[in-house]
Amino acid sequence: MSLAAYCVICCRRIRTSAPPPQSTASWRDINPFSTADVEDHECAVWLLLRQSQSGDRTARLQAVQEMSQTHHWHDYQYRIIAQACDLRTLIGLARSKESDLRFFLPPPPLPSLKEDTCIEEELRQLLASLPQTELDECIQYFTSLALNESSQSLAAQKGGLWCFGGNGLPYAESFGEVPSATVEMFCLEALVKHSEIPTHCDEIEANGGLQLLQRLYQLHKDCPKIQRNIMRIIGNMALNEHLHSTIVRSGWVSILAEAMKSPRIMEASHAARTLANLDRETTREKYQDGVYVLHPQYRTTWLARDCPALRIISVEYDTSLSDWRTRCPMERKSIAFRSNELLRKLRAAGVGDRPVIWVSHSMGGLLVKKMLLEASKKPEMSTVINNTRGIIFYSVPHHGSHLAEYSVNIRYLLFPSLEVKELSKDSPALKTLQNDFLEFAKDRNFQVLNFVETLPTYIGSMIKLHVVPVESADLGIGDLIPVDVDHLNICKPKKKDAFLYQRTLQFICETLAKDLED
Ligand SMILES: *[C@@H]1O[C@H](CO)[C@@H](O)[C@H](O)[C@H]1NC(C)=O
Ligand SMILES: *[C@@H]1O[C@H](CO)[C@@H](O)[C@H](O)[C@H]1NC(C)=O
Repeated sequence: MSLAAYCVICCRRIRTSAPPPQSTASWRDINPFSTADVEDHECAVWLLLRQSQSGDRTARLQAVQEMSQTHHWHDYQYRIIAQACDLRTLIGLARSKESDLRFFLPPPPLPSLKEDTCIEEELRQLLASLPQTELDECIQYFTSLALNESSQSLAAQKGGLWCFGGNGLPYAESFGEVPSATVEMFCLEALVKHSEIPTHCDEIEANGGLQLLQRLYQLHKDCPKIQRNIMRIIGNMALNEHLHSTIVRSGWVSILAEAMKSPRIMEASHAARTLANLDRETTREKYQDGVYVLHPQYRTTWLARDCPALRIISVEYDTSLSDWRTRCPMERKSIAFRSNELLRKLRAAGVGDRPVIWVSHSMGGLLVKKMLLEASKKPEMSTVINNTRGIIFYSVPHHGSHLAEYSVNIRYLLFPSLEVKELSKDSPALKTLQNDFLEFAKDRNFQVLNFVETLPTYIGSMIKLHVVPVESADLGIGDLIPVDVDHLNICKPKKKDAFLYQRTLQFICETLAKDLED
């Protein structure tokens, strides 16, 4: 079939405003010379559209890739694709780096708010509509907190939204002044928890949650913290494939495509996670709550797949420090509990299918050790062990910290969700973990690199403490490198040429090079 002849059909069809061709049967009887007055672009639009609905996956992928690389069309031509493409194609376009944003129609108008209700009230009603039975303690806590707050303090808090952004030190500096979080935040925290349960996702959808959350998302463009929680909910809902078409129809893909281009890394990561969960065409992995792919955030094509490509996954096991007051008191979990949960989520994201290098900070390093030990006991997780090549530890308290001796508030500030007594200097759990890990690691060929802080960490203007002393960060395997930074900055090199960054990069490159040699 020649391209010219094929084009004719497409263009003819537009002119007679007939529906797009369903089969190729009729193209033969059309005179190919009538292409003379036809714009090539227009042909390309319909050709690609048709190819994007092909039964052949490779053809579909190629069509999406070509669409995404097209930048010279007229607005209306992008709109043709936007209106006529299927769900799979739209998601593919949103996951293609080059895609023009004109592929994404503005979300459909949102239903207007009911008379006499404000958005907080609608959010509260959505939360109240969800099943409140058979929830774990933590979801119950969040839900009751949100419902209590809204009835008690709605009037008092009408003054507006208190948006606490960012994590870490800015909040620590105003330690003692606890922000008055709003009803919206409480409700969202509760909804995030509910959205981890598939049946609750169905309820959220059935009760108009996709639209309500979208309205809230648009209202809070200046509040990344609120937007992140909303995106966590949508990302969790996207784990359920039967909800994909409603998520797409409610206009979320346009919002996600735009968020992907955000210079704010967390905003882009949340969008990338949600889109990856929606993309069942090229993605097998699922990204559960708290697991993000930082790179590559876009679809890599079948051309790139043969090249050794790095995937960088980040794990959020504590929410930011600014959350600490609203966090569930029952959720101060042991390292053992958290490591099992995390191992399961990482496996779902495909970790262990390829060589892995773990990069961990502080308590995260203890989790990595515990995860590897747990994985070594489970045959279905053995691939995680077999594929582990290296581990980097930034200020990990292998032998405990003095932290346990400090006040509860300070401990929560640094380790918001952990039983801190596990981290004390003579904690039996920590000793066992360290001994078991050394025993386990001695027969393996893991490359290990340890960094440790030498500067104290300031908390407010009054308190300074050396969170992890040099001797505590000594794993007993691999180099131990002291660096003149504090506990929070040790995992945040200031510039690309910083020693920390360069040394980390070198370790990763050397470890991967070794892998290629073997
Ligand atoms: C919500 O209010 C009820 C009744 O006043 C109370 O028993 C419950 O502890 C409150 N929940 C939270 C999380 O404060
Ligand atoms: C991992 O390595 C062990 C020992 O070499 C082997 O018995 C096991 O089958 C491997 N697991 C996988 C999933 O390849």
